[in-house]
Amino acid sequence: MVNKYNVAGPRYTSYPTVPYWNMDTFSLIKWKASLKRSFIESNDKEGVSLYIHLPFCESLCTFCGCNKRITKRHEVETPYIDALLKEWDLYCDLFGTRPKIKELHLGGGTPTFFSPENLKRLITRLLQRSELAEDYEFGFEGHPNNTTEAHLRTLYALGFRRVCFGVQDYNETVQKAIHRIQPFENVKRATELARAIGYTSVGHDIIFGLPFQTLEYVEKTILKTKALMPDRLAFYSYAHVPWIKGIGQRGFKDSDLPSPKLKREQYELGKKLLSQAGYYDIGMDHFALATDTLYKSMKAHKLHRNFMGYTASKTQAMIGLGVSAISDSWYGFSQNVKGIEEYYHLLKENMLPVYRGHILSEEDLIVRKHILNLMCDFETSWATDNLYFKELPDVLVKLKEMETDGLLEILEGGIKVLPKGHPFVRNICMAFDLLLQRKQPDMQLFSMTV
Ligand SMILES: C[S@@+](CC[C@H](N)C(=O)[O-])C[C@H]1O[C@@H](n2cnc3c(N)ncnc32)[C@H](O)[C@@H]1O
Ligand code: SF4
Repeated sequence: MVNKYNVAGPRYTSYPTVPYWNMDTFSLIKWKASLKRSFIESNDKEGVSLYIHLPFCESLCTFCGCNKRITKRHEVETPYIDALLKEWDLYCDLFGTRPKIKELHLGGGTPTFFSPENLKRLITRLLQRSELAEDYEFGFEGHPNNTTEAHLRTLYALGFRRVCFGVQDYNETVQKAIHRIQPFENVKRATELARAIGYTSVGHDIIFGLPFQTLEYVEKTILKTKALMPDRLAFYSYAHVPWIKGIGQRGFKDSDLPSPKLKREQYELGKKLLSQAGYYDIGMDHFALATDTLYKSMKAHKLHRNFMGYTASKTQAMIGLGVSAISDSWYGFSQNVKGIEEYYHLLKENMLPVYRGHILSEEDLIVRKHILNLMCDFETSWATDNLYFKELPDVLVKLKEMETDGLLEILEGGIKVLPKGHPFVRNICMAFDLLLQRKQPDMQLFSMTV
């Protein structure tokens, strides 16, 4: 099954996936109109989400697929925060009325590269032009090696209750290969401090499929994780995409990576150990305790997936600020420029620093809904909500084979992914991905599905 379904495929944090965005039908004017429409439809009702990309890290981890800039010069903090605030002002001017913030997430790079004072200035100023939605959720990604008590306290006082720490693997050989020396003590300190201060959701990111990783190392990492019992866990499959990220990921050889078979065994072992430890499987690569909002949201069929991965709540509009950040108006996507200098330059000219995007067609909107349903609920239906589309019979032919393999069940007017099919949900989504079927990418853009 692993050999059969291990193909290059999207992670479906959006549909259409970024390589299929159609730049011919996209323009900044259309993007602004689609966001304004979404804002008018949804701000009063549910508010908007904000993702803020803070790209700096002091040291390069050679496995990292994120958009980051490595520097030890902390003078970069102030101009970057000024630029983020300028970008936020441009959006607020576009909306005309105050946005209501439902969710705010600081991602990176390393948000805790910034000093607590600078983060405070950023959040305080953002909130001056906005209101807070009821049950708002603020969260951030922290590096266990540089998250200080002052970071945790300052952000807590500003309303943050969720923090997620990058762990990856505790084994020293793996840590050396990925250039990330991070003792268990550092993660323990940061996790316990966050709990003591009052954070209600502390998360850890761990990865399988890293160079030199063995089944034993995965087991030991999960046992150590269990000792700290984070409320939620991302258990990512290592995405090896050196052709996009260049030399950053080439700190080890391809032959140092586990085989697809071993990688699948690592996933199966991890999943078993996490389930024995009391974690529930959320969507594709997340796990949570029953007390965490991610689990509660899954139970209530309210889980959502966007560029940040799985989230407990959905807003129709999500605004991404900062270099490379992606925004989503539901009717369209846009992405900011990736270079910091260009980002500053465009903002100085009073222009939104967007360089590409996509406006969704009627067909895209239908397929998007099916893929979201599958990724979040492991089922979808075309019996209601006008979710039938004319290519569906062809999709069903593809799904038939997966049904024979025991991955899913085809029902009257819908499908249900069976537990055996959960690890292959990306492959199932690919059957619905009409754009991928019409045109295979010219080169391998996606990581392997297993
Ligand atoms: C922005 S980092 C987390 C915050 C902080 N920079 C740190 O490293 O602790 C986001 C997470 O993405 C995951 N990640 C990064 N590159 C990845 C890759 N190539 N494959 C799978 N997961 C990856 C890691 O688990 C990492 O913790
Ligand atoms: S894993 Fe985190 S700290 Fe390491 S390079 Fe990536 S973003 Fe920076």
